Amino acid sequence: MNVILLGAPGSGKGTQAQRLVKKYGILHVSTGDIFREAVAKGESIGKEVQSYMKAGALVPDELTVKVVATRLDRPDCEKGFLLDGFPRTVSQAQALEKILETKKKKIDVAVYLKLTEQEVIKRLSGRRHCAQCAKVYNLVSQPPKKADQCDACGGSLIQREDDKPETVKKRIVVYQESTQPLIVYYQEKKLLETVSGDGDIDSVTQTLYRTLDRFLQSSR
Ligand code: AP5
Ligand code: MG
Repeated sequence: MNVILLGAPGSGKGTQAQRLVKKYGILHVSTGDIFREAVAKGESIGKEVQSYMKAGALVPDELTVKVVATRLDRPDCEKGFLLDGFPRTVSQAQALEKILETKKKKIDVAVYLKLTEQEVIKRLSGRRHCAQCAKVYNLVSQPPKKADQCDACGGSLIQREDDKPETVKKRIVVYQESTQPLIVYYQEKKLLETVSGDGDIDSVTQTLYRTLDRFLQSSR
C-alpha cells in the first residue's frame, strides 16, 4: 500500500505516521525529517535547504523531488510507503506520478488529516522534542514526566526552530497557498480520504486504522 498523508503543519502527520507504518509494515518517508537530518549532519543538501526551512518557506520543488526520487529508489520501498509532508505542491504531485510510473507503481490513497488553524497553532507552540533521541512531546497534550526532560532517554527537550510563532504563521500561509490545492487535486483523482485530526492521538489513530483497513479490504 502506498499512502500520502496530507495536512497542515502540526496536524499530526508525523505522530500518526509512526503508528501507521508499524501497523501496515510500510516505510515512513518524511521530507521534513530527511531535510532536518541533512542539516544536522552538515551535508551539502542540508546547507541548501537550511535557509528555506528556517524561514518557513518551501524548499524548491526540483531539489525536493530529487531527494524523494532517490529515497524511493531504495529496495525497502518495495513493501509500500507512507509519504509524510510530500507532495506539498501540485508540481511535486505531478513529478511523483512520473517517478512512480517508471516503477510501475501508483499512489493508492491520499489521506487528508483535517484540523482547524487555531488547533494547529496551539499544537505547534507546545511541541518539543528530545535533542538526543528525537522523541516528540507536547507541553499540553503529551507532556514529559519531568519538565524539559525526555522520558525515554533523559535528554533535554528543545523547540524546533520553525515552531517559533512568526515562522508558524508563515508556514500556515505557505500551506494554504501551495499545499491546500492538493486536496482538490486528489479529490478529482478519487484518491482522497478525509480524516478529522481533532481529538486525542489514540482516537485519531483508530479512525485512520479504520479508513486504511476499509481501503485495503475494498482493494482486495
Ligand atoms: P515538515 O517537517 O514536513 O513540517 P510540517 O508539514 O510543517 O509538519 P510538522 O512536522 O510541523 O507537523 P506534523 O503534522 O508532523 O505534526 P506532529 O505529529 O509533529 O517540514 C518542515 C519544513 O521542511 C517545511 O517548512 C519546508 O521548509 C521543508 N519541507 C518539508 N517537506 C517539503 C516539501 N515536500 N517541499 C518543500 N519543502 C519541504 O504534531 C505536532 C504536535 O502536536 C506535537 O507536539 C504532537 O505531540 C502534538 N499532537 C499530535 N497529534 C495530536 C492530537 N491528536 N492531539 C493533541 N496533540 C497532538
Ligand atoms: Mg512532521
